[in-house]
Amino acid sequence: MLEVTDLRVRYGNVVAVAGVSLSVADGEIVAVIGPNGAGKTSTLRAISGLVRPSAGRISFNGTDITGWKAHRIVAMGLSHAPEGRRLFPQMTVLENLKMGAYLRGNGAALERTLQEVVARFPRLAERRRQRAGTLSGGEQQMLAIGRALMAEPRMLILDEPSFGLAPMVVTEIGRVIQAINRARKVAVLLVEQNARMALSISARTYVMETGTIVLEGPSASLRESPHVKAAYLGG
Ligand SMILES: Nc1ncnc2c1ncn2[C@@H]1O[C@H](COP(=O)(O)OP(=O)(O)OP(=O)(O)O)[C@@H](O)[C@H]1O
Ligand SMILES: [Mg+2]
Repeated sequence: MLEVTDLRVRYGNVVAVAGVSLSVADGEIVAVIGPNGAGKTSTLRAISGLVRPSAGRISFNGTDITGWKAHRIVAMGLSHAPEGRRLFPQMTVLENLKMGAYLRGNGAALERTLQEVVARFPRLAERRRQRAGTLSGGEQQMLAIGRALMAEPRMLILDEPSFGLAPMVVTEIGRVIQAINRARKVAVLLVEQNARMALSISARTYVMETGTIVLEGPSASLRESPHVKAAYLGG
């Protein structure tokens, strides 16, 4: 479904991504873990058309989307919930959700998606008229995921959905991601600092360090890797 080949991203003289190749199959959950500054967000932003790669190829459902503008990529079915959530804090929960579907007009199909998304997140349903900026961190993350789902994506890109959340809420976010993946057959590319959560819900994982993939494989085997244990799972 998604095929990234030898991707490079640079900001002036800073090389953030130095030749990354990765893939996500139909309906698969794939994780990318790695330390701060490894180039994870830059990789996701290049895939979603938010930064222009300096080299490499990105193909989605067989179409070469390298260098495409972000709105065209969303229209292809690839939806991105960015790092830091980037909600509209003064807008209500419902208004934020509708922003996720701005490419889809305002018809009955949109209303149906809205009902589905709200039904998946009961806490958002209760708070539909509350301003997003006053939600708890966990609720804001649910809203960011919900907003990305409003575009009816075939693939969801999530950048550190567990950031800043208490362990119990992290577990809940992990469950929600799995539930969405199963119910909607949506593929997921998940970037996480929380390696334990990422490894437990994904089929395959890539370990990214200083702009390159240093390790990859089935998540179940990576959990046993000495490097992953020492560097990401606290020994
Ligand atoms: N807009 C930018 N301009 C200049 N340098 C940038 C920019 N965005 C990112 N970088 C640099 O690129 C490198 C990779 O950053 P990136 O945000 O991709 O890492 P990351 O793996 O997502 O880190 P984190 O886990 O902290 O979110 C870093 O050295 C960062 O300082
Ligand atoms: Mg990041």
